[in-house]
Amino acid sequence: MSRKYFGLLILLITLVLALTACQPKAPEEAAAPEVAAPAEGEKLAVGIVLPTREEPRWIQDEGRFQDALTAAGYEVEILFSQGDSAKEKANVEDLITKGIKVLIICPHDGTAAAAAAEAARDAGVKVVSYDRLIRDTDAVDYYVTFDSIAVGAAQAQYLVDKASGTGNPLYLYAGAATDNNAFLFFEGAWNVLQPKIVDGTFVVKNSSEAIALQDKATLTRDEMGQIIGQITTNWDFNTAKNLAEANLTATTVEDKGDVFILAPNDGTARAIADAFGADADVSSYVVTGQDAEIASVQYIIDGKQSMTVLKDVRTLVGDAIAAAVAYLEGGVPEQTHTYNNGVIDVPAKPSVVISVDIENLVEAIIDSGYWDASEFTGLP
Ligand code: BGC
Repeated sequence: MSRKYFGLLILLITLVLALTACQPKAPEEAAAPEVAAPAEGEKLAVGIVLPTREEPRWIQDEGRFQDALTAAGYEVEILFSQGDSAKEKANVEDLITKGIKVLIICPHDGTAAAAAAEAARDAGVKVVSYDRLIRDTDAVDYYVTFDSIAVGAAQAQYLVDKASGTGNPLYLYAGAATDNNAFLFFEGAWNVLQPKIVDGTFVVKNSSEAIALQDKATLTRDEMGQIIGQITTNWDFNTAKNLAEANLTATTVEDKGDVFILAPNDGTARAIADAFGADADVSSYVVTGQDAEIASVQYIIDGKQSMTVLKDVRTLVGDAIAAAVAYLEGGVPEQTHTYNNGVIDVPAKPSVVISVDIENLVEAIIDSGYWDASEFTGLP
């Protein structure tokens, strides 16, 4: 085994130990693990491409990768595509030229990224699709992901648990249609919400397509696409805010009161919550989210967002590094599931997610070492 791979293996084992330690860790202890330093000038034969700096989620991933790798002395190049598939492809070509052996890439647009994945495959580089699935190509070797169906289900279950009686107004929002995850989140949510729409607990207020399809327990991708087309935020705060305001303008006092909102992630949840909070006809709202962003954890503490779904990015980073090491060693990463990308079933090992509200926030976010208590004011 080369010294480089041995160093990587030590790093991986240290990471796994740090991630699986059963005692809650103080934040200081959760810092980057101590690993054997690589030889001088040694580089990791892995390149990382993330979708954009404009969505806080990916800054989290950059930081967690840096904690795990760069702090240990490895040089890893992390490039951002800034929501532009052409820039994404140029980033991948740049990394190929620099000699990477494994590409860890989270696509901006799942289908457009097929060309970048194929360029990497043609150069003999293993392609690991990170968090979002690259679609419509066989040039994907592995998919590192959370259980995104479970994310949507956890969001929907929260709304169901908080609702009583019938006729509760339900407003639906989704992510970007170019992101395969938006479909998985919506599918997971629909599985839980649809029976509760049929039994009258909820009444959908902002999607004629969802109303037209509300008797169908299982939707095709095209059907989900029709609904998502009406309720997409494009993962963008301003789009989310404008859509929520337009929905509130288009509905009447009777459609408001105590409302329930499926918001797809934390950034859009804050924007949507602000719009609903500013409407005098909304007396209360329950709103979902995901990512455990610092700003949303503060919103939960302040009673402005109801819940988030913690997807522990440290786990995803650990899984991505494990996959890279497996390929560098000539092996294959662990597989428990497959995800169809339109062409092939891509092997994966999805990670669990945790539903977080004010009740378990301290345990899930602070005691776990995910964020430091000093980031927040008014912790319970
Ligand atoms: C990720 C979410 C993120 C969203 C917007 C999704 O693909 O899974 O965690 O909030 O993209 O960036």
